[in-house]
Amino acid sequence: MLIKKPSDIKPSEITPEAMYRNRREFIKDGTNFLAGSVGIGSSLTSLAQDGDALKARAPAAMRRSPPASWWAEKFSSIKPAPDSEPNFTGESLTPYEDVTIYNNFYEFGMNKADPATRSGEFKTEPWTVEITGEVAKPGKYDLENILKPVDLEERIYRLRCVEAWSMVIPWIGFPLADLIKQFEPTSKAKFVEFETIVDSDSMPGINSRFAIVSWPYREGLRIDEATNPLTFMAVGLYGSYLPAQNGAPMRLVVPWKYGFKSIKSIVKINFRETQPNTTWNDLQANEYGFYANVNPEVHHPRWRQDMERRLPQTLLSRRVIETRMFNGYGEHVAHMYDGMDLASYY
Ligand code: MTE
Repeated sequence: MLIKKPSDIKPSEITPEAMYRNRREFIKDGTNFLAGSVGIGSSLTSLAQDGDALKARAPAAMRRSPPASWWAEKFSSIKPAPDSEPNFTGESLTPYEDVTIYNNFYEFGMNKADPATRSGEFKTEPWTVEITGEVAKPGKYDLENILKPVDLEERIYRLRCVEAWSMVIPWIGFPLADLIKQFEPTSKAKFVEFETIVDSDSMPGINSRFAIVSWPYREGLRIDEATNPLTFMAVGLYGSYLPAQNGAPMRLVVPWKYGFKSIKSIVKINFRETQPNTTWNDLQANEYGFYANVNPEVHHPRWRQDMERRLPQTLLSRRVIETRMFNGYGEHVAHMYDGMDLASYY
C-alpha cells in the first residue's frame, strides 16, 4: 500500500477484457449474481435464503468446504441484503475471482496475489478472540460461541482502498454492534482496538525481510463508529465462507473508510478510553490518518483521492469513476464528524 501508486499497477495485474467478459457470462448464467441492476436484489434474495442452492450454483472456487461443521449450520440461513442503499449499492459486483486474487494482506506478502497464493497453510480452526479492557465480560472466546447469538446477513458494500482502486463486494456477516453488546462495554469504552493474528509458520510475510509493518496489524475505531449500523463483521463473501486472503475467519468492514481500516483475521478486541495506535498511522502519519474517512477533497500526499479505478479494469476501459465523500455513505455517517475539520482529522 505504501509503495504501490496507481500508476505502478502492472499490465499483468489487469484482467483482460475477454477473460472478464467470459467470467461475467459464466457467472450471470450460473448464478445471476452479477446482473448489476435493481433486479439483483431479488436473485440474491432467493440464493441467500437457501445456502445449499447457492453453493450448488456457485462457481467451483466458491464451493468451499466449511472450516468446521457448525459453520454450515450458521450459513444455512442468511438474511438477504435489501435492494436499497446503504446495504445494497445497485452497482455491478466485482467478480469473485478479482475479489479473491487482488488483495492487501501483508502478513502473506506485499504483492496483490500473495495472499491468495501463499495462504494455503493458514488455519482458521480452532479460532479464539480475546476480549480485553473496558468491558464487563472480558475473556477468551471461541469463535463459535461469539457467533451463536448473531444472525448472518448479506451486505453489498463498496470497498475503496487508499491506493485509489475500488470494488463492490457482497459480504456475509453481522453488525459489529451485535458483537460488542455481548461483552457489555463500560462507560469508559470510548475506542475499540483490533489486532490480527501473527502466525509466522503460515504467514510468510511476517518474517519477510521486506516487511514494513510491525506486527500485529492493528486498527481502531471510535465507539460510535464501531457501533454505527453500517460497521460490519464479515465471515463470508459471495454466499460462502471467507477465503484466507480476505481475512478468514472474521474481518472488519467499514465501508465509508479507506480499506486499511477493515482489519482481517481478528484475534483480539480491546475496549479503551484513549485512541489506540494503528498500523498505518504509526508507519506514516502524514499519509494515513486514524480516521481514514474516504474524502475526495483531502488528497494523499503522493496521489489524488478524487477519482478511483473500479476493478476489474480492462485493457479497453480503465473504468475510472469519481470518488464520493464517505464513499457514498455520508447520509448514514457524516453526523459522527459534525464540527470536525476533516482536513486535520483525515
Ligand atoms: N488487515 C491485515 N491484517 N493486514 C493487511 O495487510 N490490508 C488492509 C485491509 N486489512 C490489511 C488488512 C488494506 S490496505 C485493504 S485495502 C483491505 O484489507 C483489503 O481487503 P481485501 O483484500 O479483502 O480487498
